[in-house]
Amino acid sequence: MTSRRKFVKHTGLVAAASTLPIPILQSRRQMDRISVAVMGVRSRGKALARTFAAATNCRVSTICEVDDRYVADCLTEVAVHQEEVPKVEKDIRKICEDPTIDVIVIAAPDHWHAPATIMACQAGKHVYLEKPCSHNPQEGEWLVEAAAKYQRVVQMGNQRRSWSNVIRCMDDIHSGLIGRVYYARAWYANQRGTIGKGKKVDVPRGLDWDLWQGPAPRKSYYDNIHPYEWHWFWHWGTGEALNNGTHFLDLMRWGLRVDYPTLVTSQGGRYHFDDDWQTPDTQVISLDFPEGKTMTWESRSCNTLRAYDHSAGVSFHGEGGSIVLSSGNAYQVFDNDRQPKLIKEVNADEGIENDPQNTMGPGMLLDIGHIENFLNAIRDGGKVRSDILGGHQSVLLCQLGNIAYRTKTAIEVDPENGHILNNAGAMKLWGREYEPGWEIEV
Ligand SMILES: NC(=O)c1ccc[n+]([C@@H]2O[C@H](COP(=O)([O-])OP(=O)(O)OC[C@H]3O[C@@H](n4cnc5c(N)ncnc54)[C@H](O)[C@@H]3O)[C@@H](O)[C@H]2O)c1
Repeated sequence: MTSRRKFVKHTGLVAAASTLPIPILQSRRQMDRISVAVMGVRSRGKALARTFAAATNCRVSTICEVDDRYVADCLTEVAVHQEEVPKVEKDIRKICEDPTIDVIVIAAPDHWHAPATIMACQAGKHVYLEKPCSHNPQEGEWLVEAAAKYQRVVQMGNQRRSWSNVIRCMDDIHSGLIGRVYYARAWYANQRGTIGKGKKVDVPRGLDWDLWQGPAPRKSYYDNIHPYEWHWFWHWGTGEALNNGTHFLDLMRWGLRVDYPTLVTSQGGRYHFDDDWQTPDTQVISLDFPEGKTMTWESRSCNTLRAYDHSAGVSFHGEGGSIVLSSGNAYQVFDNDRQPKLIKEVNADEGIENDPQNTMGPGMLLDIGHIENFLNAIRDGGKVRSDILGGHQSVLLCQLGNIAYRTKTAIEVDPENGHILNNAGAMKLWGREYEPGWEIEV
């Protein structure tokens, strides 16, 4: 790998406001390269491993993967940016015990997110945690508690918080460009296929199904769960609302400057195919906030019609106009005339200097800003753009939406803390059961 650039710098991503005071690495190690382990590397974890390897003064020293089939590809990706070949380990508990690891990056399925993060915090590791930060609201609260108790930096992978033009868009909203903003609407359209009816089969060679399940109560192996399709089973996944919804409800919460709602409703179903998929493929979630603001999320996992020419995005609406923020790094501002006129347009590549020699694609160039922000917070005791309390608050909105959907009730919420009021049925979905021996204690 000698001809390849080992450390590719990124430029042009704008620093943003931040929210959380952060503890630092022990001073002896402050100048060292941060040593990172990545958990779950088939898809998102592989991209993150490569991005962490490319980040300033950082090395991927271990990858943790329970399925041997996905290891080689990840090692190849990491080798684009570092000479050191990472160690490979299956059991996250062994990585927690390794004193040379500073950071654990978690990109395993959702049922693992909070349990692995809490384990890592207890072992003294900082955590970059993929969205959604938790499988259920109880776990989200435990995460906030654990990060505070063990004084660790825990940043969620809601990377749009660090995208330069998304930050500009939020500045425009907050500086009053479209007046008082009272409504935000997000949408998502995709063409996901059927997952069919699963067959109970032997666990594939090289997969440790017991470790894959980890904290989740045990189930037999079926051929339509791993990889990826676990997203659509409540036992491990959280549906499209938390899969893609987390990004967009987070943007709406940021733009509207709200924390916890007062009322949540949701409708939808698994309409498009008759198969094992349990979460809705079509869903609307509506949330009211005490400040006199409303947001809605509409997802169509199996229907592709775009809105404002974007397959996913957010629109903000106020007294003086509207803003359409694409799922990328671009936005448009309209006035509030009867025929709305475009009054400002910011394109995706504006403000981003792309070094022609770099080996990063556009997605990685955007994401590395979030990762550098996390690493700098660890080094300098600075603040992350998206602390775990904010991550939890955004994910909770999606979770409350799913709970309203599953219980077919309108959920009243305490706007002080996001807790469900007067709804015993809904409260049954506040937490989950754990496999004996895997119970969580912060
Ligand atoms: N921020 C983003 O834009 C973004 C994008 C894609 C995915 N994600 C998130 O990343 C996570 C992973 O998504 P994916 O699409 O890569 O899923 P995936 O199923 O393709 O990959 C998950 C990987 O984790 C491995 N794994 C499972 N249990 C493990 C364990 N105990 N230890 C180590 N490895 C384990 C699996 O074998 C698999 O390789 C999800 O939570 C998803 O929401 C975030």
